[in-house]
Amino acid sequence: MNIRVARIEDLTGMQACNLHNLPENYTMKYYLYHAMTWPSLSYVAEDHEGRIVGYILAKMEEPEESPDGSPPSESPHGHVTSISVLRSYRRLGLAKKLMLQSQDAMVNVYNAAYVSLHVRKSNRAALGLYRDTLGFTVNNIEEKYYADGEDAYAMQLSFNQ
Ligand code: ACO
Repeated sequence: MNIRVARIEDLTGMQACNLHNLPENYTMKYYLYHAMTWPSLSYVAEDHEGRIVGYILAKMEEPEESPDGSPPSESPHGHVTSISVLRSYRRLGLAKKLMLQSQDAMVNVYNAAYVSLHVRKSNRAALGLYRDTLGFTVNNIEEKYYADGEDAYAMQLSFNQ
């Protein structure tokens, strides 16, 4: 299994993987927006035939300047829009590797202070990955965040440790 940075020609494979794995789906324009704006933050896992079996789609969130022109009080931070791995390739450490690659680029390329994401309260596998393996903490609960009414944990991992 190979992990590498996502290229434009990977986006349809990433979208197919996302449609397979998650109810939160995105337009091709949104994938393109990520890949063209933050080309070093999204990664794919491919099998020996080059088929995409997992991906991470990530971006930066830049705090806005205040109206008086003074610099923003918050630092830029990374945000994981979506990550998933096809069922038969799970528990092999792929998601952990995808997350770590993206987190490295957030720090080294964009000087991110922390990374954030949302996850369903019921998503045991993803919570295991974020909280137990990677050290994320729950920052907030966003009620009815998902289209079906489920709450989200808003989670964060600080890079300043
Ligand atoms: N139950 C409990 N803990 C789990 C599970 C599970 N089913 N799967 C992973 N973990 C935890 C474990 O601590 C694991 O370490 P271990 O295997 O040494 O015990 C650790 O996460 C790392 O696991 P990986 O093998 O790297 O994870 P995997 O490649 O299987 O992918 C993922 C995890 C992405 C959550 C996968 O189950 C998946 O694609 N699920 C469906 C899509 C999804 O829920 N995506 C996340 C939505 S939230 C978002 O996108 C921001």
